[in-house]
Amino acid sequence: MRKLEVALGERSYPIYIGGGLLSSGIGAEHVVTDRALLVSNETVAPLYADRLALPGIDVQRVILPDGERYKRLETCERVYDALIEGRFDRSATIVALGGGVIGDLAGFCAATYQRGVGYIQIPTTLLAQVDSSVGGKTGVNHPKGKNMIGAFHQPRAVIADTDVLATLPNRELAAGLAEVVKYGLIRDRPFFDWLEAEAEALLRRDPEALAHAVAESCRNKAAVVAADEREAGERALLNLGHTFGHAIETYTGYSSWLHGEAVAVGLCMAARMSVELGWLAESEWERTRRLLERFGLPTEPPPIPEAQFRELMSVDKKSRGGRLRLVLLQGVGDAVVTADFDPAALDRTLATHP
Ligand code: NAD
Ligand code: GLY
Repeated sequence: MRKLEVALGERSYPIYIGGGLLSSGIGAEHVVTDRALLVSNETVAPLYADRLALPGIDVQRVILPDGERYKRLETCERVYDALIEGRFDRSATIVALGGGVIGDLAGFCAATYQRGVGYIQIPTTLLAQVDSSVGGKTGVNHPKGKNMIGAFHQPRAVIADTDVLATLPNRELAAGLAEVVKYGLIRDRPFFDWLEAEAEALLRRDPEALAHAVAESCRNKAAVVAADEREAGERALLNLGHTFGHAIETYTGYSSWLHGEAVAVGLCMAARMSVELGWLAESEWERTRRLLERFGLPTEPPPIPEAQFRELMSVDKKSRGGRLRLVLLQGVGDAVVTADFDPAALDRTLATHP
């Protein structure tokens, strides 16, 4: 087992990574009373809820429908109902067992029930293990925008059991790998090199390779979150590729594209734009595209009219005073957030991706 820490003073917490963690009982020490509410969904609960050992804890369950479309306030009501009917008080602990949808929603319920109770993240997708379970961003979607309702609320612990990745559909695994590649591009060139070398091992789900990828991703994310918990600056780097990606997700109605797939295209477009600006070597863009392709990820957007692409990008949460800010690359492992770029480079990037 690997153990990392998200260093946030009093709110610091551990991230455990390894095989067999669900049945190890490790979660129990982070439930401060003898009761907890497990929040999971109809896909994950039948696979893993019984494997989760929390010795000495009386665990009640609320099992939600599966899908991004259920990541909304109405679904939170089910969790609040279970908490109130189960007479959970402010010492309650919520245990989120599932992918990013369950983690974000259960975390938001924890942030808001009785003005905030504790929760533990037990992420079961690669995306959730490398990204959404770490860092305390919780929330749900609004019909008019993704993740528009939310709160920063850090978990008490993150338990990433890499054994559960065995049942993940290939497409979901690839979507998680897009976020893994993102860390290499943002701030960790040696990790990017390692991903190129070990791509085949990751695709065959070699346990050691997966555990290393999860640990290195979490190490990078934990460092960024510790430096800038509320996204005043550096944390925005974690959105590399996301402004382009969100435009694709919104255009396609959050149905046909997985978030990680849209991010993969976004990484390519951000890299391409960086080449257009003269900041990134053509060969580095090629490397990025090739690696994502090896993971079976898309690297070209669907046909979106240029003006509409631009309009969709402009609603990004990073925009300030109507000015688009983007995360761009000065090299593999060297990202910057900036509004100071030649707009013609964005024009060329959108034009070459019709
Ligand atoms: P998801 O939670 O929808 O999970 C994908 C699918 O895999 C679901 O059908 C799920 O039931 C299933 N599944 C989960 N674990 C499984 C397993 N071990 N075996 C088989 N099937 C399994 O999607 P996701 O990609 O995990 O998360 C996407 C969500 O995460 C989005 O809502 C996104 O906004 C959010 N997100 C949040 C953050 C953050 O910082 N909070 C960061 C990135 C993404
Ligand atoms: N997924 C981006 C962040 O946590 O900041």
